Amino acid sequence: QKTLNQCRSYNICFHHLLLLNIKQSLREGNSLLQECNRAHEWFRGMNRRQRIVMAVIIGGSLIYIILTQTLLVFSSPPGEPTEPEFRKTCSSVLQKISKNKVVEEDKSLPVIYVVTPTYRRPEMVAELTRLGQTLTMVPRVHWIVAEDSNTCTASVQNILERLGLPYTHIASPMPEVYRKERYVPRGVSNRRASLEWVREYGEDTGILYFLDDDNAIDIRLFEEMRTTKKVSMWPVGLIGEYTVSSPVVKDGKVVAFYDGWPAGRKFQVDMAGFAVNMGFLKSQAAKQEKVQAAKQDKKHPKVTMPYIAGHEEDGFLKSLNMGISDIEVKAEGCTQILVWHTQTIWNPSHALWLDKHQTDNIKKLTDNMRHLGMIK
Ligand code: UGA
Ligand code: MN
Repeated sequence: QKTLNQCRSYNICFHHLLLLNIKQSLREGNSLLQECNRAHEWFRGMNRRQRIVMAVIIGGSLIYIILTQTLLVFSSPPGEPTEPEFRKTCSSVLQKISKNKVVEEDKSLPVIYVVTPTYRRPEMVAELTRLGQTLTMVPRVHWIVAEDSNTCTASVQNILERLGLPYTHIASPMPEVYRKERYVPRGVSNRRASLEWVREYGEDTGILYFLDDDNAIDIRLFEEMRTTKKVSMWPVGLIGEYTVSSPVVKDGKVVAFYDGWPAGRKFQVDMAGFAVNMGFLKSQAAKQEKVQAAKQDKKHPKVTMPYIAGHEEDGFLKSLNMGISDIEVKAEGCTQILVWHTQTIWNPSHALWLDKHQTDNIKKLTDNMRHLGMIK
């Protein structure tokens, strides 16, 4: 207050103070009086032309901000891609391998196709190591790791080879048009590519499960979902305002959803909160494609995941043309938490100073970290 009063007495607009970064100057030991005078002089020293230029710059920036924000609010979402999405299957192994030998698994058990979208960042290898090692404890899983990228990362390939799980390694980048969205639909192109793969190669008796790379899972959940006939659901912990997202169950049937972000969704579930029977998925897809062909109606819904942030789960389940009454309730009537959206904290990817460490272990250590995508 004292500062302000002093400045007012020198007839100095508060904005001048901000513009000249007076605080910094004061920290450097200049007196307030000196600084107030300097600011005052600076503003008075501007000629008419300079003042007009400044007004145009500030006014122009304001108009630009208002226009772009209005456009963002009122523009319609880009919808479905207009060009075919890029997809590449880098490698696929259909058997479990341990110590260089094929492990015979119980073929009467339905295969669970676990789809994990991922993207390059310092945490990626840590996330996939944790999830992948959990999956080695589960019989009959096929892990589909789908990278949001044009190419498959070598360190991810190494993890997959080492784990010995049946796996498929896919690369499918998000089309550029969606990256420009205010809310980016994360992990959609890569999940869609995985959907295509399971529809082509997945067994009809199998189960499809979307498990993002930032989740933690109790392996008991896999035995719950393995018996899915159409679509099954359970609670997911550490989601949104309620710390959980769960179906509301009455007399063994889903009647509603308990979720902190309804957003007009028919199925208010998290990606990790449901599984789908592959036979059911394929038959729904076939039915819808038949209708589409007969009506020559390209807009008829296909079984797919929409590029709409926050509505991926709902859009996908709706595209299966199913009802709430089709949902099978798991995890002891949706009373147990067997999966969490843990969300690993973001870490900066630094460029490190290594001048002093050219002859010790730090050189090799940081080379390895670079290979894992942890640093630049
Ligand atoms: C949450 C849900 O967990 C997602 O399933 C859902 O798609 C998303 O909300 C949404 O509603 O948009 P969220 O935690 O917000 O996801 O996002 P992330 O965990 O950052 O991303 C979801 C998955 O997509 C992760 O497996 C992540 O590795 C992957 N991802 C993320 C990409 O493949 N590309 C990206 O650019 C970002
Ligand atoms: Mn997440």
